[in-house]
Amino acid sequence: MTAEKIKELVAQMTLEEKAAMCSGADFWHTEAVERLGIPASMVSDGPHGLRKQNEEGDHLGINDSIKAVCFPAGCGTAASFNRELLTQMGETLGNECQAEGVSVILGPAVNIKRSPLCGRNFEYYSEDPLVASEMAGALIHGIQSKNVGTSIKHFLANNQETRRMSSDSRVDERTLHEIYLAAFEGAVKKEKPWTVMCSYNKINGTYAAQNHQYLTETLRDQWGFDGYVMSDWGAVNNRVEDLKAGLDLEMPGSNGANDKMIAGAVLSGELDESIVDEAVERILNIVFRYEDNRDRSAVFDKDKDHEMARRVAEETIVLLKNESVLPLSDSQKVAFIGKYAKKPRYQGGGSSHINSHKITSALDAAAEMKNVTYAQGFEDVEDKTDEKLLAEAVEAARNADVAVIFAGLPDKFESEGFDRKHMAMPDCQNELIEKVAAVQPNTVVVLHNGSPVEMPWIGQVKGIVEAYLGGQAVGGAVCDILFGKVNPSAKLPETFPLRLEDNPSYLSYIGEGDMVEYREGIFVGYRYYDKKKMDVLFPFGYGLSYTTFAYSNLTVDKEQMKDTDTLRVTVDVTNTGDVAGKEVVQLYVADRESTAIRPVKELRDFAKVELAPGETKTVTFTLDQRAFAYYSVRIHDWHVETGAFDIMIGKSSRDIVLTKTVTVESTVKLPFVYTTDTTLGDIRKDPGAWELVNELFKGGFFSDQPEGGESEAAGEAISDEMNNAMIEYLPLRGPISFTGKVTMADVQALVDKLNALEE
Ligand code: BGC
Repeated sequence: MTAEKIKELVAQMTLEEKAAMCSGADFWHTEAVERLGIPASMVSDGPHGLRKQNEEGDHLGINDSIKAVCFPAGCGTAASFNRELLTQMGETLGNECQAEGVSVILGPAVNIKRSPLCGRNFEYYSEDPLVASEMAGALIHGIQSKNVGTSIKHFLANNQETRRMSSDSRVDERTLHEIYLAAFEGAVKKEKPWTVMCSYNKINGTYAAQNHQYLTETLRDQWGFDGYVMSDWGAVNNRVEDLKAGLDLEMPGSNGANDKMIAGAVLSGELDESIVDEAVERILNIVFRYEDNRDRSAVFDKDKDHEMARRVAEETIVLLKNESVLPLSDSQKVAFIGKYAKKPRYQGGGSSHINSHKITSALDAAAEMKNVTYAQGFEDVEDKTDEKLLAEAVEAARNADVAVIFAGLPDKFESEGFDRKHMAMPDCQNELIEKVAAVQPNTVVVLHNGSPVEMPWIGQVKGIVEAYLGGQAVGGAVCDILFGKVNPSAKLPETFPLRLEDNPSYLSYIGEGDMVEYREGIFVGYRYYDKKKMDVLFPFGYGLSYTTFAYSNLTVDKEQMKDTDTLRVTVDVTNTGDVAGKEVVQLYVADRESTAIRPVKELRDFAKVELAPGETKTVTFTLDQRAFAYYSVRIHDWHVETGAFDIMIGKSSRDIVLTKTVTVESTVKLPFVYTTDTTLGDIRKDPGAWELVNELFKGGFFSDQPEGGESEAAGEAISDEMNNAMIEYLPLRGPISFTGKVTMADVQALVDKLNALEE
């Protein structure tokens, strides 16, 4: 239906019908208006499978949903660093939605992993906004290619579960733009999600649902978003103000109370009816975009999609440690130990919980291998060692050539709704790993968790495989990696710190009452650990392979450029081992010298390449202004400072293999406002301005001292360094007291002249 026709439809609706359209008809549907042929439209969670509830609805994963296919959660899919794969996963999900009559799937969830403790980290992608936004964009692309909408969530600065419905994220402007908005920005601009879900929390004192600045100015005016904004379930606080701010659809609704409020506000003149019309238009545009493009031939083939889930899982598993223990061979006697070998923890709790149509455990996948034995090892309902299970496990390990322990975080350790209190695994599992490793030198740990854990036993085991929450087909994927049928190719989309206390948000995470200050600013994840030169357990971007890769021939197409130019970067990657493999090539940019406080380097692009043994491929990246920029609060925009930048190619954030330097010239001069407090050092940077100053203070005590020059005034007690610093940091008004030759009026006149120079 054309936009024109939708306008006509809205014109025929009564005020009551329009007000009702602005909230859900029930937990999962928009309102229908039968007399006008407007159908109800279904939305469903998401994001790593369909949680379509046909009967009793809820937003916590309590009631049943239809049987569906559970794909790996965001923690894992981000680790694939594979955009094409996520697009294919999206196409599969989109097709499932078409088959099930779902118009919008509620995801992806792109919130930044500010702390390893966030209960929903398992659903989120990364500590890095580029990774979050690119992986989300790839998924959105796939889903929407099937004419099904997405709802990128939870907008904005929703990085903890504690008091999630009332907490107030206090984030400075630059940090919001560089980290928290940036996670959404690329995906919204490039892939145009049909809807956006606003979060529960406040941002700098204003609820996300009520935030005109972000819902309208940023999202629509600056980023060109043209779908509808829906609330998270129950995130509406003041329906009329929310509507004015740009929140179109309230979910799940308020049993009609807020509809009445909207109609009443229009009648009283408090709310302009055109705002209601606009919200209804936006909702109907999406309702009909789906209706007009229904694929009634779509079939939800769960077994086929299970295979897709397995393919995705294969690329989400990160090999963290391998002292020549992996891959295993069929002839080795292998003891699978740990409850999760039989009952994997493959998804998280809450609104993303999928009712899986089948689950493949590692034990199922190894059923036909005669040399694989199993011992349960631990229980995960309570963190208590079961001595009998422990003894059986140690015995099984002793009798095998290799022990593979399937461990990780139980559901009650991480979930939507609450945050973790610490980064430790259950004590009983740590004890099991230590005891098994004591009798079996070839011990491998497979981890099922949605967020970093501490690994006190790291030095005692030979192999560590981070399987994240790998979806219902995870067991098959893990076995293929363990036995070398698949070469691991995932990399960590987050840092694993040595200790929780090392994390930059540690001192202020969760906050005081509702107030949550983001005191670490832009220094989230590796941006902090790098700047502080801290050791970490595993760095951002890290992951091993069964083959080796060599990098060569880094080229840049220019060494001098303007910030308006683009830079073409190429690098050759060769598979130097003897098995095929995939490598994630990471490009970081470092500003070598900057007046803004900046991270050491930032990830600006990445690519995943598949290489046969001996094969070389050239990877090409194109960088634009944004790759060199920081967000300047002086101009409320992105800005590049003139100077040298390093273009770094890395195997991880801590393993940079090739670097080239380019000089970028800024085409934007930041406006400078002179005041009587401006220091002479700052003025000296502009020769024209410095001349004016010298003129006024001619004969004064500093005027004839060239930069860094010898000073006659400098006696023995005053070094040149000190003397220069005194001048450098002297405000313009300083000489009034020291020389007695100039007055405040003179200085003010000078300030006016200096500002005139700027215009
Ligand atoms: C969650 C959303 C989810 C919604 C509907 C909320 O509690 O925060 O992510 O989409 O419920 O289930």
